[in-house]
Amino acid sequence: MTRRPAARRLRVGLIGTGVGVRTYLPGFAATGRADVVAIAGSSPARSREVAAATAVPTAHGDFRALCADQDLDLICVTSPNEFHYEHFAAAAASGRPVVVEKPAAVDARDLRRFLRVPLAPGQQVFVDHQLRFNPYLRRLRACLAGGEIGRPYQLRIHQQGVGQLAAGVPWAWQFDEARGGGVRLAMGSHLVDLAGYLLGVDAWQRVTGSVDPVVAVRRDGAGGSHRVTADSAFSAMLANPDATALVSASAAAAGESLLDVDVLGTAGEAHFSLRDKLRIFGADGAVRVPVPEGVEPAEAANRVSVFKSSFTCFARALTAALLDGDAAAVADASMLADQESLLGTLDAILDSARVLSASPQPTGSTR
Ligand SMILES: NC(=O)c1ccc[n+]([C@@H]2O[C@H](COP(=O)([O-])OP(=O)(O)OC[C@H]3O[C@@H](n4cnc5c(N)ncnc54)[C@H](O)[C@@H]3O)[C@@H](O)[C@H]2O)c1
Repeated sequence: MTRRPAARRLRVGLIGTGVGVRTYLPGFAATGRADVVAIAGSSPARSREVAAATAVPTAHGDFRALCADQDLDLICVTSPNEFHYEHFAAAAASGRPVVVEKPAAVDARDLRRFLRVPLAPGQQVFVDHQLRFNPYLRRLRACLAGGEIGRPYQLRIHQQGVGQLAAGVPWAWQFDEARGGGVRLAMGSHLVDLAGYLLGVDAWQRVTGSVDPVVAVRRDGAGGSHRVTADSAFSAMLANPDATALVSASAAAAGESLLDVDVLGTAGEAHFSLRDKLRIFGADGAVRVPVPEGVEPAEAANRVSVFKSSFTCFARALTAALLDGDAAAVADASMLADQESLLGTLDAILDSARVLSASPQPTGSTR
């Protein structure tokens, strides 16, 4: 019997050992055609420790060594926000395709230096807005674009997760605005991107919002206390003449994880939630519960978070694009060049929140 040559697999390098290990590593493995083969953490010892624990074959001393590794097809920048520029610039110089975690830059001004980094001809820089690859949310976008509920005039997206409510949660970069912390950037980047993706909106004419740290002070491991400067919750209203999006998130919920997307249209309504998945109501109130192609049983049963499973869908699309040359697979991906409007909206939420917190409290306020 002749043996067929082994099919080629995508070789992925990871900079950063947080979400990269939690989500990218299993996500690429689940495609069955891609492997994380190299990793670079915050120190050579950390790279070795994580590589040994995860059976990743190569531990690089730092991000520069990883970017010089000729064995990689794709470099993923999954380090904390304050390192994105330096790590992206090194990854871009390798000429390989790059994925940068969101938010790529911390604001629209910061993005400008990313956009000045030279790229090789055809070199692609993706930003990990993986919800665009979730089959339910893709079906919802098709529903809205196809006029199934008429003109979608109001979109509400609310996400909440538990984790940051307890005072004992230790101080970390996520609580420091100067280091790119805060839920407005961490989750707001996903949700504002999703609002635009679902409605086919590139820019919002009016943006207002508010932010809240929820817990004002955090202690570090050595017992020192730090004032929290970044938000654990935000709310925003994004408006255009023909559609409004209300977007909110909290990382400091007490009980339940939620991702609710509710759309009202002139001829129906559509809802996505972790519990009920996608439901579409016609103008007569008749409900349809579509199960889109690509939904796996584990996803249909998933009530906790769509981020990990959506990343696996994104990893499949990247693998198809980079191994098979299937450009259509990533046609909906968020690219570095698209971040200006997104970051402008996130900036406007913060600007509006600052104006609000500087304005006098109304009489009768209990705060
Ligand atoms: N798309 C998503 O669903 C998603 C989910 C979580 C986080 N993120 C994004 O991923 C990025 C990292 O967040 P996180 O939750 O993993 O943070 P984290 O703090 O949990 O992990 C970051 C990791 O990077 C490592 N690191 C620090 N400095 C480094 C350096 N100079 N070189 C290499 N590695 C370094 C740290 O040791 C740590 O293990 C952020 O941009 C965040 O917004 C995205």
